[in-house]
Amino acid sequence: MGREAPDTLKNYINGTWVGARSGAAMESVNPATGETLGLVQRSGPEDVHDAVRAAAAAFPAWRRTPAPRRAEILFRAAERLVAHKEDLAQLMTREMGKVIAETRGDVQEAIDMSYFIAGEGRRLHGYTTPSEMPNKAAYCVRAPLGVVGIITPWNFPMAIPSWKIVPALVCGNTVVFKPASYTPLVALRFVQILEEAGLPPGVLNIVTGPGQGAGEALVAHPDVRVVSFTGSTETGLRLAEQCARLGKRISLEMGGKNAAIVMADADLGLATDALIWSAFGTTGQRCTACSRIVVHRAAKSELTERLVERAKRLRLGDGLRPETEVGPVVSESQLDRIHQYVQVGLQEGARLLVGGSRVRDGGLDRGYFYAPTIFDRVRPEMRIAQEEIFGPVTDLIEADSFESAVEMLNDSRYGLSASIFTHDINAAMRAIDDIDAGIVYVNHGTIGAEVHLPFGGTKETGNGHREGGRQVLDVFSEWKAVYVDYSGRLQRAQIDRG
Ligand code: UN1
Repeated sequence: MGREAPDTLKNYINGTWVGARSGAAMESVNPATGETLGLVQRSGPEDVHDAVRAAAAAFPAWRRTPAPRRAEILFRAAERLVAHKEDLAQLMTREMGKVIAETRGDVQEAIDMSYFIAGEGRRLHGYTTPSEMPNKAAYCVRAPLGVVGIITPWNFPMAIPSWKIVPALVCGNTVVFKPASYTPLVALRFVQILEEAGLPPGVLNIVTGPGQGAGEALVAHPDVRVVSFTGSTETGLRLAEQCARLGKRISLEMGGKNAAIVMADADLGLATDALIWSAFGTTGQRCTACSRIVVHRAAKSELTERLVERAKRLRLGDGLRPETEVGPVVSESQLDRIHQYVQVGLQEGARLLVGGSRVRDGGLDRGYFYAPTIFDRVRPEMRIAQEEIFGPVTDLIEADSFESAVEMLNDSRYGLSASIFTHDINAAMRAIDDIDAGIVYVNHGTIGAEVHLPFGGTKETGNGHREGGRQVLDVFSEWKAVYVDYSGRLQRAQIDRG
């Protein structure tokens, strides 16, 4: 592209809207219609450098701003998000395709997170504890780290940035934000709302552009102390390697291959409703999407029939239309990738029950629509049961016992979200104990975390951090232990204890 255009939306650096130094631009495209929505900066390392410098310069004053005052700005941002919820949701549907009910949910998640974290401004609890010595106080406090680099995906273009940016700010860090290349417009609006809420210049900066170039430069920058990344496992692990060499902290939220177990005694009507939503909501483009359904032999044929019947009837279309149930996938390359996986499934011997092709009929030819797809006769070792497809594709895997179902669920390199449908309280409790995942549901699909609970996964889904909940504060702060000796003399006991 590299086009120079005066109406191109700008980066926000040090409190001003500025163009990329190269003058290069990139497009944001509606995946339902192919229409160009706008142009944004195609930033490079030099723009990232400017943004990091601004964030570093703003850090001392922001760190010293009392946390409750920082939080008031975030609270005001939440109120502005409420006021703009509908237009933000519409922009989001146009930019990345998911249906309007879901984009309203995405904005709501950012609202919830902002209110929740604004409350942390008056907590950010540390603790006090007795000292070993008389006349000595001992306590610990959370301290900010400095400049935080935030890299986010396109599937939750406002919710995920809010999980990261808002807690980073309340803790007293300053931020450079690099959003996904498919969703820069929503990201720029989010930053604008935070600006309007009263953030001082330099505290939050946004640089749009490709991962290679802008994203890589952000991770590599010596003044960036923490990186928070949500995206593919491949990229996340590469960034983690880079951070390890530089000795910097990185919080990763990566892939998922989430499974739901349906036991023979489950309410199959409920399971069908939940699994259709869980597999095909956001067109299957969620880290938490249910892409494996492990069903007990005794419930298999009935559940299969119900799921196929429902999947066939799902209405595809532009997510802005109220009757649409499934929007497009985000891009042509994602569509090709999904279709390749379907070919892999067929080659592996899985049986295609429904879907398996691009949809162009009914005026959908300009967008990237893929039919909701269900595979049967899937064995746990198949690639379609092991690899994250990130599209509207789910697998049916048959189990003959509770134990084998849990074993198959756990047979994955990922461990984000999981669920079990059963009325047997003992089976449910055992599943909660035995499932190796960061999030476990009982009688609900694998989607839909709440902001005040920790979000994240085990194994290759993450690297031990949780975003969401109060646990997110551990990503964006570090502990400072404080001792105040008011004895007025060198206490001998201190030396004796080493
Ligand atoms: C993701 O896809 O990375 O729990 C996050 C959910 C959403 C977030 C998904 N609230 O499904």
